[in-house]
Amino acid sequence: MIDDSTKNKILDTAQIVDVVSEFVQLRRRGVNYVGLCPFHNERTPSFNVNPARGIFKCFGCGKSGDSARFLMEHEQMTFPEALRWLANKYGIQIEEKQLSDEERQAQSVRESLSIVNQFARDWFQQQLLETDMGKSVGLAYFRQRGFRDDIIEKFQLGYSPNSSDALARAALEKGFKSDYLVGAGVCYRTDNGELKDRFRGRVLFPIHSLSGKVIGFSGRVLSSQAQVAKYVNTPQTDLFTKSEELYGIWLAKAAIVKNDRCFLVEGNTDVISMHQAGVENVVASCGTSLTQGQIRKIHRFTNNITLIYDGDSAGIHASLRGIDMLLEEGMTIKVVLLPEGEDPDSYARSHNASEFQQYIKDNEVDFIRFKTNLLLEDAGNDPLKRTELIKDIVKSICVIPDSVSRSENISVCSQMLDVDEKMLVDYVNRMRKALKEERQKNLERERQQSTVVSSRVETPSDEAAPVEPQKEEEPSPSVVEIDPLLLQDSATRQKEMLNKKELLLMKEMVRHGEEELELMTLEDGSTQAFTVAECIYYDLQNDELSFSSPLLQSMMEELVQHVHEEGFSASRFFRNHSNPAVSRLAIDLLTDKYELSDTFSESSDIHEVVPHLLNDYKLVLVEDEIKQLKSKMKEASVNDNPEYMQELMQEYNDLLAIRRELAKQLGNRVIA
Ligand code: CTP
Ligand code: MN
Repeated sequence: MIDDSTKNKILDTAQIVDVVSEFVQLRRRGVNYVGLCPFHNERTPSFNVNPARGIFKCFGCGKSGDSARFLMEHEQMTFPEALRWLANKYGIQIEEKQLSDEERQAQSVRESLSIVNQFARDWFQQQLLETDMGKSVGLAYFRQRGFRDDIIEKFQLGYSPNSSDALARAALEKGFKSDYLVGAGVCYRTDNGELKDRFRGRVLFPIHSLSGKVIGFSGRVLSSQAQVAKYVNTPQTDLFTKSEELYGIWLAKAAIVKNDRCFLVEGNTDVISMHQAGVENVVASCGTSLTQGQIRKIHRFTNNITLIYDGDSAGIHASLRGIDMLLEEGMTIKVVLLPEGEDPDSYARSHNASEFQQYIKDNEVDFIRFKTNLLLEDAGNDPLKRTELIKDIVKSICVIPDSVSRSENISVCSQMLDVDEKMLVDYVNRMRKALKEERQKNLERERQQSTVVSSRVETPSDEAAPVEPQKEEEPSPSVVEIDPLLLQDSATRQKEMLNKKELLLMKEMVRHGEEELELMTLEDGSTQAFTVAECIYYDLQNDELSFSSPLLQSMMEELVQHVHEEGFSASRFFRNHSNPAVSRLAIDLLTDKYELSDTFSESSDIHEVVPHLLNDYKLVLVEDEIKQLKSKMKEASVNDNPEYMQELMQEYNDLLAIRRELAKQLGNRVIA
């Protein structure tokens, strides 16, 4: 483990132009450098390097980040690997972090489990390749399936003999503790305490982490024994969560980047056969429907995914929902159906790489088109089913973040479904609004439920909000007829406005969070400097305000916690944040991805900007309260309750006074 101050030293020393130049030819253009983007194919350079900010940004494909991020993306390094690479380049000695007892213990448990896994892998491999039983049963099985020896070795396939505790005994003899054998999942304990091999009598497919460590196993029965589960997998352990892993990702990652595409198949054997045929950018989802974690793993390497389904796959319908998550992440998705009766495994065995690639090229269909077709087949002429179908497709389209891609899909579907395009646009827009509202409500509910303020940052997009249309609100007692759609509109607009103001404040915090802004005189007469982060945080706290976005709120809280650490830099801290949602947002804020135009330009003095933004933010809040109060007053006048009305009037006047004050301050500070 690299300690924080070494980490900071490395990141501060790294010169982005230096680092990128090792891989990309750069030319100077003004204060920046440009070159051909290494992450996508282009003829004119849109890859920018900004030495002052220490970041790169491609205006073609959108990839951006600092030196470490560049290495991670370009060389598929992990963050620690990138740090070590940089330390080596700049001759920085790495100080290993002193772990707390607890951390050391957790670390050493995980390390021990990892060592057990590597041992088990080696042992299974040795059983397969060097024992008579292994050769005649396991190896024979793989060969009969057509796996070449080099592929068997590449995937580190193995065999566990059909004895109840052969591995357990071998491991104990080597000095491994039985607790770790159970902890790693290779053994389990029976009710009377006996240690048993989990995978006995099976051939083994080790499952690797991104960096190539064995974290679990999939054990397949040999074809003859049909009564038991086809696969037994490592259970949930400290190292392994099946639903988060992708079989083959370790061997596929370089090819995924090179081809800028990832093939997703269903089975382990599909991955292996495709490799053997020369198609290496392929992973399997370990038999579960896709999870966010798996999608993020793929998204690190590419934006393009092609789902390959068996010609007669029953899994297609079941997987449709998971695919909406891919759309939501902004990935482009294609689907390929193999010929009837074929799966990727069988198809790859009877065709070579270029034939396979050609088949894919000829048969891949854009996902929305594919889904529409599939559902159209199901619906036939049944009008009810067709209505459902349209709703279903609209649900998929409305989660696509990119508006251009949304409208392209809409026009394709309007043709396929023979539905008026304007109507579809309108439907998608209404559904998007409903979705946003629903999500906001869920977040608010979560926030109200969590009484403890956690310093861990949550990703708001982690949980896909249900897309069901809005539930009926409690019937309003008001006799005033309000079009619910109109109400929703202004509520959404209000939220967008708030969100923009919060982002503007966050932008200042990301860029200048650690800079000193205000000197406060304390009661004892001493003075204390407050940073930008603290000024904003305490100012909001004084007014009992917190950001409506939990992500921004937790970023701010985390920032305030760390801002006084020695050598702390807010931009560096957020750029390298372990939560990808945070680092992505930070980079966007650093690179002006958001058009957050305001009266103040980037170069303005923080002493002016920060108070201005705070007032501006509060003004939006106050105006919202005023609006709410007004509608309450309307109701009250109808209900004719003078006392209540009086109260509301008082509140109303107070709010107006606050608004006047805020507006005055804003006016005073406005710089042309
Ligand atoms: N799977 C599982 N448990 C099962 C069946 C399947 O975990 N009882 C997972 C495995 O990761 C498997 C994937 O689901 O790779 C897909 O299943 P399937 O297509 O049946 O497996 P293949 O690996 O293709 O096996 P084979 O071609 O040998 O039948
Ligand atoms: Mn199969």
